[in-house]
Amino acid sequence: MELVDLTPAIGSEVHDVDLVRLDDVGLRQLECALAERGLLVFRDCPITPAEQSAFAARFGALQAHPAYDTVAGAPGVTILESTPERPTKIEAWHTDMTFRPAPPKITMLHAQVLPPSGGDTLYASMTAAYDALSEPLRAFLDGLEAVHDFRFGFRESLAEPGGAERLAQAVADNPPIRHPVVVAHPLTGRRGLYVNSLFTTRIDGMRAQESRALLDFLFAHLVEPEFTVRLRWAPGTLAIWDNRCTQHKPVNDYFPAHRRMHRVTIEGEAPRAA
Ligand code: SIN
Repeated sequence: MELVDLTPAIGSEVHDVDLVRLDDVGLRQLECALAERGLLVFRDCPITPAEQSAFAARFGALQAHPAYDTVAGAPGVTILESTPERPTKIEAWHTDMTFRPAPPKITMLHAQVLPPSGGDTLYASMTAAYDALSEPLRAFLDGLEAVHDFRFGFRESLAEPGGAERLAQAVADNPPIRHPVVVAHPLTGRRGLYVNSLFTTRIDGMRAQESRALLDFLFAHLVEPEFTVRLRWAPGTLAIWDNRCTQHKPVNDYFPAHRRMHRVTIEGEAPRAA
């Protein structure tokens, strides 16, 4: 398989690989490349929902999302859809499902329906963002924990008519939890920032104003252009990203056009302090 880097910090396009027929050695190579590059992009990938589900399951158990529908006949394949009637509400930079004690380690997104233009996804490397901080600030952050909250991330959906009832079980199942502010990647050992503006509400043990100021600084810092890449989707594009060292943001610039993606998330372990 051939990798062509998209930016120095994050992302590679992968050529000459058939994901459905990949052997175990190829799978391990892919996993290592993913941990190093954070995001792998496969163009013209004709994978069906059942094949996407089976391929993803080779990396670990699939993790359901409490707020999204799944594809009929393809368990674990979630539908992310934006229509004029139900436009997407996910706007903020985030790492997937950090409201869980063990958030997914990997996400795979396959383009189904794309707007005529726009609907890109931005990605940022959390290792590059951490490495660019000064030594005193890295040392300070290394010992901290932050609170992540499902209700905060889904506050708009909860506020819409019927939203609180629809998401009541998800809220009950996902009380606020803590994760380290800096985590070590289990494969590379590299440290990365692990706070995000969608789900992280405060830094544990700090005064509210201190926590707000520090989080605002980190949220601005971790998406500096030097740490990012912009993925322009095309029909059949499959993206795989490593949630242990990246964040992403869908660019919602295409309303009222239709966009539909198939997403699979793979169970991870509790994030480990660096
Ligand atoms: C996601 O936030 O997991 C999906 C990103 C996208 O729809 O581009």
